[in-house]
Amino acid sequence: MTYEPVDWVSLDAEKVKNVTPRYARLRVDGNGSAKGQIIGWQNIELISDRPLEIMLKEFKQLKEEYPDRILIASIMEEYNKAGWEELIDRVEQTGVDALEINFSCPHGMPERRMGAAVGQDCALLEEVCGWINAKATVPVWAKMTPNITDITQPARVALSSGCEGVAAINTIMSVMGINLTTLRPEPCVEGYSTPGGYSAKAVHPIALAKVMNIAKLMKSEFGDTDYSLSGIGGVESGGDAAEFILLGANTVQVCTGVMMHGYGVVKKLCSELKDFMKQHNFSSIEDFRGASLEYFTTHTDLVTRQQEAIKQRKAIRKGLQSDKDWTGDGFVKETESMVSN
Ligand SMILES: Cc1cc2nc3c(=O)[nH]c(=O)nc-3n(C[C@H](O)[C@H](O)[C@H](O)COP(=O)(O)O)c2cc1C
Repeated sequence: MTYEPVDWVSLDAEKVKNVTPRYARLRVDGNGSAKGQIIGWQNIELISDRPLEIMLKEFKQLKEEYPDRILIASIMEEYNKAGWEELIDRVEQTGVDALEINFSCPHGMPERRMGAAVGQDCALLEEVCGWINAKATVPVWAKMTPNITDITQPARVALSSGCEGVAAINTIMSVMGINLTTLRPEPCVEGYSTPGGYSAKAVHPIALAKVMNIAKLMKSEFGDTDYSLSGIGGVESGGDAAEFILLGANTVQVCTGVMMHGYGVVKKLCSELKDFMKQHNFSSIEDFRGASLEYFTTHTDLVTRQQEAIKQRKAIRKGLQSDKDWTGDGFVKETESMVSN
C-alpha cells in the first residue's frame, strides 16, 4: 500500500547530467541554522542518469525474487511517440505490474517537453496519454504536478485519455533560500543555483488539498472504484498516510521521508497506520477511504451552517435571556432553570 515507484527511468540516460550539491534543506530554526527539525527539502536532481539497461535488469530481478509483490516503474520520456512506445515496451517486458508516468517534474529539460512541461499543458498531455495508453498493456498512473492553478484539469484529461489512475503530487517549484553570508542561493553549484522541487513535511498540507480536489473530481465524474488515486507529499508517519486515505487515496507514496530517515520509516508508518485502524475498528483501507471528503464544503455553506447552529444553541439555552422574560406565575420553574446544581 505504501511505496515509492521504483526508479525514475527514461530511454536516454546519457542526456541526463546531474550536478552536486543538488539538495537543500529547510529547518524549523530558519535560514542558516544547522539545528532544528528538517521540514522542507529542495532538489534540483534530474531523472536518474543510470543506464536503462541496468534498471531493466533490476526490475526483472526484483520480479523474479518477489513475484507476489507489486512493482511499478516510474517513467519519463521526451515528446516523441516512438520513444515512449519503445520505453513502455522494454519496461513492460521486465514484468512490472504498472507504470507511473512522470508528467510533473518541475525542473530540468522543459525544452525537451518532459515532466511538468507536459502536465501543465492539457492538449499536450492528452496527446501523450493517448500514445501511452494505446501501447501499455499494464495499468497506467499519470503523476500530476502541483505547479498549476487547478490540478483537476490535467487529472481529468489523464483519466479521460485512458489512464487507470493519477498520482499527486510531484514537487513544488521553489527557491530554498539565500545564504546570508555569501548572498548566493541554495543549493549552490559553483556559485549559482536554479529553482528546484520542494518536498517533505512542509508540502503535506498542499498535497492534501490537491489530493482532496482530485478525489472529489474522481467521485463526481469517474467511477470512484474504477480508477485509483495515489497520495504523495510529506508522508513520514502512519497519521500522514491515513490523512491521504481519508481524502480518497487508494495508495500512499513516500520519497523524501525515506531519503532522510531510511527504509525504517516504512515499517514505522505501517505499524502506526494499523494502530489508527484498530482505534477506529477499521479492518480494511476501504473502510475509511474518502471518509473525510464529505466534510469539505464552500465557505458560504460554512456560514449558513454556523448561523443555524447558533440558532439551535440559543433555542436550547437554559434560563431567561433577560428580566423581561419572567412570565409571572411561572417564576418557580423559571428560577429552577437557572440553578446550576
Ligand atoms: C531527490 C528527489 C528526486 C525526485 N525525482 C523524481 C523523479 O525522477 N520522478 C518523479 O516522478 N518524481 C520525483 N521526485 C518527486 C517525489 O517522487 C515526490 O513526488 C515528491 O518528492 C513529494 O513527496 P515527498 O514529500 O514524500 O518527497 C523526486 C523527489 C526528490 C526529493
